[in-house]
Amino acid sequence: MNILVIGGAGYIGSHVARELLDRGHQVTVFDNLSSGLRENLFSGAAFVHGDTLRYEQLISAMRDSGAGAAVYLAAFKAVGESMIKPEKYSVNNIIGAMHLLNAASETGLKYIIFSSSAAVYGEPEYLPVDEKHPTNPSNYYGFTKLEIEKFLSWYDRLKGIRYASLRYFNAAGYDVKGRVTGLEQNPSNLIPVIMEAACGMRGELQVFGNDYDTPDGTCVRDYIHVNDLAAAHALALDYVSGNDKSITVNLGSEEGVSVTEVLETARRVTGKAIPAKITGRRAGDPAKLTASAAMAGELLGWKARYSDMETLIRTSWDVYRDK
Ligand code: UD1
Repeated sequence: MNILVIGGAGYIGSHVARELLDRGHQVTVFDNLSSGLRENLFSGAAFVHGDTLRYEQLISAMRDSGAGAAVYLAAFKAVGESMIKPEKYSVNNIIGAMHLLNAASETGLKYIIFSSSAAVYGEPEYLPVDEKHPTNPSNYYGFTKLEIEKFLSWYDRLKGIRYASLRYFNAAGYDVKGRVTGLEQNPSNLIPVIMEAACGMRGELQVFGNDYDTPDGTCVRDYIHVNDLAAAHALALDYVSGNDKSITVNLGSEEGVSVTEVLETARRVTGKAIPAKITGRRAGDPAKLTASAAMAGELLGWKARYSDMETLIRTSWDVYRDK
């Protein structure tokens, strides 16, 4: 199939584009390069330098590429920033997604794969979190994701646009074959921050609290390798197009790993001391968050293959140590 990968020069988008190419799809990357990188583009894919906020650019890209499906990975994702600058998230995430839906409706593009997030659930009421868990986002970023899911559901009913909403837990790692090498700019997520501390790009890791109700006092998360995420996008597209049915599924490894465990693995794998300091809790951080990914297994035949902490850190370090 011909697929428009919106945000395909970004961190997750480039891995998704690579996976789709590997599976024999034709890919057009559409990206405004605000955080995406030319370095992340592949010769096998076409590239359109465009912005989701420019409706006419989206329409042209859909028509010119003849895309039958779009993967939408062009949202801002910094949770902390979303609480300070909600306007920025409203415009880019929500208006950008509305443009995508309207352009799909106008051009007859039938399938959308949407990057959603575990942030739609908010503070977990039980663990592991399955898709039936109530949605009650505790940050504005998560709110934008949940709203877009609702728009998708309406366009499914009214316009027959079928979608997969993929609720990622903590995306991390780099391509296991080393084909993606672009570093995220000013990362705030744990593993890239640790990598920057390991290679001297920043002074230290700040550990946001060690007084949580967890075995070692630091927060527990479910880290999922970006190659596993990418495979799920391809499988989700097969499912949605093959069954003419929309789905909403979690993507996680089902393993809970603490901040201290991530740091210790990173020290061992990199052989670097990685300075770290315990600081106060970060507002809005749940103590523990782990996924049930049973539905993705049942519907898509998907299972995480590369999401053990060792592989997550090793593939990240392979990229960072060369910079
Ligand atoms: C959040 C979202 C997730 C989203 C992701 C995108 C929630 C519940 N989760 O994940 O859905 O996809 O952001 O960015 O909103 N930490 C430190 N020091 C640091 C950075 C992080 O100690 O410098 C700790 C955090 O306190 C947390 C863990 O590391 O316990 C992971 O943090 P992070 O990588 O920022 O992801 P989440 O906030 O879990």
